[in-house]
Amino acid sequence: MQQNIKRAVIPAAGFGTRFLPATKATPKEMLPIVDRPTIQYIVEEAIESGIEDILIISGHAKRAIEDYFDSAPILEMSLEKSGKLDLLKMVRDTADIRIHYIRQREMKGLGDAILTAKAFMAGEPFAVLLGDDVVYHPKKPALKQLIDVFEEYGRTVLGCQTVPHEKVSSYGIVEGNQLDNHRILKVSNMIEKPSPEEAPSDLAVLGRYIITPAIFEILENTEPGKGGEIQLTDALKVLAQREAVFAYDFKGKRYDLGDKLGFLKAQVEFALRRDDLGGDFKTYLKELAASEFTI
Ligand code: G1P
Repeated sequence: MQQNIKRAVIPAAGFGTRFLPATKATPKEMLPIVDRPTIQYIVEEAIESGIEDILIISGHAKRAIEDYFDSAPILEMSLEKSGKLDLLKMVRDTADIRIHYIRQREMKGLGDAILTAKAFMAGEPFAVLLGDDVVYHPKKPALKQLIDVFEEYGRTVLGCQTVPHEKVSSYGIVEGNQLDNHRILKVSNMIEKPSPEEAPSDLAVLGRYIITPAIFEILENTEPGKGGEIQLTDALKVLAQREAVFAYDFKGKRYDLGDKLGFLKAQVEFALRRDDLGGDFKTYLKELAASEFTI
C-alpha cells in the first residue's frame, strides 16, 4: 500500500535574522559550510534518499538560491577554456537537480510555508527538510531512515532526537508510546517550544518529516499558535488524533545551523571529514589547542 516518497519541500523563506549582518544581502541558506552552501547539504541528503523533485519555498531576496541551482553559461565557458574540468563538473552538477520554487509572500510560520506546497504534492505523502538541521551519517541519510519507517507503517513519520532538557523550548516536543522497535514512538501529543516545566519529554523534532497529505486540510484550519505563527507542530498534533503519527529517533550527528556555535561546529567537523583538507586542518587544530592562543 505504501507509495514511494519522491517529492520534498525545503522551506527557505526566513530572514535569517540570527546571522545578520551576513544575511542582509545573502540568503542564510547560501552561507557555506567549508565551500558548499548549507542548502546543498540538505538537497544532497534528499537526493541520496531517493527524492526526485524538490520544492523550495522561497521569499524576498532569495534569488541567489535560484541562481545557484541554475546553469551558469559564462562561468562554465571560462572553466572549460582554462581546462578546469573538475570545477566545471561541480558547477554543472548543481544545475542537474530538479528544483522548483514557490514564494511565501508573508511570513506566517512553518505551517503556512508547508501549506504553500499543497498543489505541488498532488495528494501524495511527501518529505520536509528544514535547512537549519544538517545531519551527518556515513551510510544512511536521516531522510532515508525516515522513508524506510514510512514504508513499513504508511503514516506520518517525524525525525526526532533527544535534546538536553534545558533546550526543549527551542523545538517541537513529542510524547508517545514506544513500539517494539525502541526507536519508534506512536505520537499521542506534541507541543511547540514548551518551557522545560511543560515539556512532556526531551524528544524533539529535528527538521525531518514524512507527512501524509491529510495535513493540508488541517493546516488550512490551524489558528496561529506559538509566536503568533501557524505552527506545523499544532497541525501534526491534530493529525495524530485522526491517523497514526510516528516519531523516529534517527541515527546520525545533527548540527544546529540556526545557532552560531552549532554553525561553527559544523564548519570544523565537516572540514575534518574532507579528504582534501581534513589532515592539515586537524594538525592546525591540534597546534592551536596546544598553543597559548590569545585574542
Ligand atoms: C522548527 C519547528 C520545530 C522543530 C524545529 C527543528 O522550529 O517549528 O517544531 O523542532 O524547527 O529544528 P524553528 O527552529 O524553525 O523555530
